[in-house]
Amino acid sequence: MYTSKITGLGHYVPENVVTNDDLSKLMDTNDAWIQERTGIQERRHIKKGDGNSTSVMGVKAATIALEEAKLKPDDIDMIVFATLSPDMYFPGGGVEVQEMMNMRTIPALDVRNQCSGFVYAMSVADQFVKTGMYKNILVIGSENHSGGLDFTTRGRSVSVIFGDGAGAAVVSRSDDKGENGILSTHLHSEGKHKDELSLQGPSTEYWVPEIIEKNPQEDIPYYPYMNGQFVFKHAIVRFTEVIHEGLKANGLSVEDIDMLIPHQANLRISQFIQQKLKLSDDQVFNNIQKYGNTTAASIPIALSEAHKAGKIKKGDLVVLAAFGSGFTWGSVIVRW
Ligand code: ACO
Repeated sequence: MYTSKITGLGHYVPENVVTNDDLSKLMDTNDAWIQERTGIQERRHIKKGDGNSTSVMGVKAATIALEEAKLKPDDIDMIVFATLSPDMYFPGGGVEVQEMMNMRTIPALDVRNQCSGFVYAMSVADQFVKTGMYKNILVIGSENHSGGLDFTTRGRSVSVIFGDGAGAAVVSRSDDKGENGILSTHLHSEGKHKDELSLQGPSTEYWVPEIIEKNPQEDIPYYPYMNGQFVFKHAIVRFTEVIHEGLKANGLSVEDIDMLIPHQANLRISQFIQQKLKLSDDQVFNNIQKYGNTTAASIPIALSEAHKAGKIKKGDLVVLAAFGSGFTWGSVIVRW
């Protein structure tokens, strides 16, 4: 088995800042409610005409990650692209990235695991590198949420939470025979809760003509639905479980964590996990205050930002953990 390592990180968010006060002009909400429930102060939204899309933002983040890894697009052997908001219904964003970055005819795999998308994608990359199949894999998480949210009062409990952006990591085979690199990944799902955080249409079950014909009377869902309190309760249990699982698999304990990067679902969820694990403020990185919940992009944006701010050093134990729609959840344990 080879060692796999994160050799480059990058992130990109659109310039357009949308504050809580901006949202309160569109719907019945206010800064105090949003901050108290979620910790979010502002988020970024793609602006019509700014040239961004899920794949374009993915390419911008990937370009920075490649530079940091000192690699050229030709050095990449595979793309793993995680999103719930692709530019098109099909094909997925992976091939768009391959084309925009002018890459060889390498495999491009799309991962659809919502908030856990990046952790799932990293796990895929880790396996391909560890087995020796590929040397350098580009992993991207990118979301354009603002294009598909209900910005009327009806959608306020969901639409105030989500933001747009992208993050990317290069996972490479390492010559480092020591203990540095991705130590392990841990993935789970529980499909019985699939409806609790979901977007049902348009889909083959609720196809476009049916939605046009029956709405608004029958209200076929074409905006995301979230059972907020149910999601919250499951998230705090699964986050802590899967962090413990990852640590235990490596003979480590919570005291060994130098940096926990939780999926930025909600600041209250992160604070709850921090409290439960008895971690200090320095051991947990949060940036949801600035970007909202960017789903598959949240961990790579946070990881890239924390790394660029000098908060992660060689030898640190870094834990990535996610929970989201599906339900799906997972963790990645990294010795930096
Ligand atoms: N502004 C003002 N009022 C609002 C808003 C809003 N944006 N949204 C809902 N309300 C109102 C509701 O209508 C309700 O009013 P009512 O009492 O008159 O009926 C009241 O606020 C309370 O609504 P709840 O839904 O009960 O609010 P809650 O305290 O549960 O907070 C929230 C909602 C923030 C979504 C919370 O449930 C939560 O954090 N859930 C976790 C889910 C989460 O974070 N998901 C992130 C995405 S999933 C993921 O990434 C894992």
